[in-house]
Amino acid sequence: MKKLAVFASGNGSNFEAIAKFKNRVYQVELLICDNKGALAIKRAIKHKIPYFVFNPSDYDCKDSFEQAIIKVLQAYNIDFIALAGYMRLIGKTLLEAYKMRIVNIHPSLLPAFPGLNAIEKAVNYNVKVTGVTIHYVDQGMDTGRIIAQRSIKVKHKSAQILEKTIHKIEHRLYKRVLSKIIRRLEDESIN
Ligand code: GRF
Repeated sequence: MKKLAVFASGNGSNFEAIAKFKNRVYQVELLICDNKGALAIKRAIKHKIPYFVFNPSDYDCKDSFEQAIIKVLQAYNIDFIALAGYMRLIGKTLLEAYKMRIVNIHPSLLPAFPGLNAIEKAVNYNVKVTGVTIHYVDQGMDTGRIIAQRSIKVKHKSAQILEKTIHKIEHRLYKRVLSKIIRRLEDESIN
């Protein structure tokens, strides 16, 4: 069983969906949060998952901020990281410590609409099809190698309705993709 840490900054519905998934590949051991007011923390408490809040302004640079996070990740023997609504770019320090072991979920068909407000942007652009992307994380903004995508036909001009549909898909997709890629990682370490 591999140990997963989820990084979230806000609502945390994806964190909860990943954590609740009963499977033999991964277990969510930790929530890492950069916002002490995040609803994700309440969800962690509900599921008895340890959480740690790191406030970036308590650190003099990104490197020391990420070093502090890595200390906790190592204390919990974390193998893999899933970003789920984590509103911060991952820096060199974490990327080197968890090479190809950090993934993210984004509410658009990347490379379209990276960054903030992807759902609103898609609606404003009047796209007919949008979706969800899961990708490896690199130093860019939603630029890493794509692992999985699901498309959705845009039937309404409402970003709220679209967001609900996107969330449903995310909650089903993320846990499955995570277990698939983490299992592959396990197989590679055996062979
Ligand atoms: C999701 O739509 C995800 O794709 C994006 O941020 C949102 C987080 O939602 N990266 P939640 O906090 O998991 O509810």
